[in-house]
Amino acid sequence: MTEPVFRLENLHKSYKREGREDLEVLKGIHLEVGEKSFLTIVGKSGSGKSTILQLMAAFDKPTSGEIWFRSQNLSVLSDVELSTYRNRSIGFIFQFHHLLPEFTSLENILLPGLIRQEEKRQVLENRAASLLNLVGLSDRADHKPSQLSGGEQQRVAIARALMNQPEVLFADEPTGNLDSGNSELIFSLLAKIHSEYETTLVVVTHNLELARMGKTMLEIRDGMFAEGSN
Ligand SMILES: Nc1ncnc2c1ncn2[C@@H]1O[C@H](COP(=O)(O)OP(=O)(O)OP(=O)(O)O)[C@@H](O)[C@H]1O
Ligand SMILES: [Mg+2]
Repeated sequence: MTEPVFRLENLHKSYKREGREDLEVLKGIHLEVGEKSFLTIVGKSGSGKSTILQLMAAFDKPTSGEIWFRSQNLSVLSDVELSTYRNRSIGFIFQFHHLLPEFTSLENILLPGLIRQEEKRQVLENRAASLLNLVGLSDRADHKPSQLSGGEQQRVAIARALMNQPEVLFADEPTGNLDSGNSELIFSLLAKIHSEYETTLVVVTHNLELARMGKTMLEIRDGMFAEGSN
């Protein structure tokens, strides 16, 4: 069997609270995410879905337990190594697009490549243009985020997350802000990315119907993955 992309071992996450006992959100999560998975995570509001994603993307650290990305234990990496991991190995799509308002669609997509500083500008620009084409927005290249619809903003954010050709793409409620038509479009786009680029996807959503578009669905309940969810 091939090595999993991610392995979460007995992961706990508690939040400290002033004058009150800690809030224990994750209570011993075990998870293996195999190569080329399309995993969706569902659960009630407050169940810890964003928390898991933020730990896997190394935006935050677990209270205890381990997260392995291939042969790397994320908890022993330095801050510099973690930045490299975030810039190269993963892409992240947020509920709200987090595009930079003063830059055009094309420039927003280009930025992670410029930060990485490894390829020629022309190569990066060509890739950014082809990603814009992938998300169906070639004719919006020079629009700033305020000149795009909500669905279009989210599609630009998806293209940006793909700029450095990540192995894993995380999305936290990527359709939380959109109507049902746009939500389906975003999920179809994720499915297309999954099949064309073989990117491993880990997607959090409230929407059960959309979650079923994934290959594996897990429900988080009481700080653990619920029995029988798959
Ligand atoms: N920094 C923090 N400090 C204290 N408590 C926090 C913090 N971040 C999150 N929480 C709490 O942890 C719990 C899990 O939060 P999380 O954001 O992971 O939920 P979620 O499943 O993503 O919910 P939603 O579907 O509403 O986005 C919530 O009850 C929240 O109030
Ligand atoms: Mg959340």
